[in-house]
Amino acid sequence: MTLSQTRPISSAFDRNYVASTSPYSGVCDSDIKAIVAQGVEMIYHSGAEPYSVLHGVDLEICRGDFQLLMGPSGSGKTTLLSILAGILTPTAGSVCLMGQEITRMTRSQLAKFRLKNVGFIFQGFNLFPALTAAENIEVALKVKGVRGVQNRRKEALNLLDQVGLSNRVHHLPRDLSGGQKQRVAIARALAGNPYIIMADEPTAALDSQSGHAVIELLRQLAKEAGRTVLIVTHDPRLVDVADRITYLEDGILQS
Ligand SMILES: Nc1ncnc2c1ncn2[C@@H]1O[C@H](COP(=O)(O)OP(=O)(O)OP(=O)(O)O)[C@@H](O)[C@H]1O
Ligand SMILES: [Mg+2]
Repeated sequence: MTLSQTRPISSAFDRNYVASTSPYSGVCDSDIKAIVAQGVEMIYHSGAEPYSVLHGVDLEICRGDFQLLMGPSGSGKTTLLSILAGILTPTAGSVCLMGQEITRMTRSQLAKFRLKNVGFIFQGFNLFPALTAAENIEVALKVKGVRGVQNRRKEALNLLDQVGLSNRVHHLPRDLSGGQKQRVAIARALAGNPYIIMADEPTAALDSQSGHAVIELLRQLAKEAGRTVLIVTHDPRLVDVADRITYLEDGILQS
């Protein structure tokens, strides 16, 4: 099984599928756009003084695009990615994913929407250390509503096969290399077949060879499996395979 054999996502995306995943009824222009952000601002209030990180970010990403978000450390990349994924709520502005305005959804609507539509790959892998590679994915499948232990096991094995880890199914994260852990994290992000994959510095902790394998996997997700892939990175190797690069500097997008 290869990535291209997973759920086909045609350019003629079935708008009704997304609409049916959420009781939220607002639909914005979604024919070709996977991600639309308008006027996104973010002010953190956790320090002594409010800290303004994003200053009116407008961004549009087409379906099936393999796009990078780059910029200096501290420019707000992780903050923006987290907002686009619905993990953080912006101070102002709107975000539409697959035509649905997530910034107007209730918490539970957003949680349901994200489970079906967004796979997020964290820099630090975020795997459960006491669970095997397969079990880490089975947990995600359970959260995403896949019923039955046998079904979840079958799907977890299928996903591990897709990322080339059929021979590491029963390994704990501590017994996997950095690249292998990242591939488990990618397999987990693919659980439930989300349309959009977001990754925060997915190759930062990897050696050259593992980094190449992960880059190829992410490229295949966009080019063969038709997903929209947005990656925050400092890695120049990703520049060669991306469709588009957006730069963020001091919380402002540069064209
Ligand atoms: N929860 C928070 N509370 C207050 N300030 C924060 C918070 N999270 C991030 N920041 C600040 O916001 C700014 C942007 O952080 P962010 O993590 O988005 O940057 P980044 O571009 O991802 O940087 P890096 O490339 O180093 O990962 C930084 O100055 C950071 O210290
Ligand atoms: Mg960051």
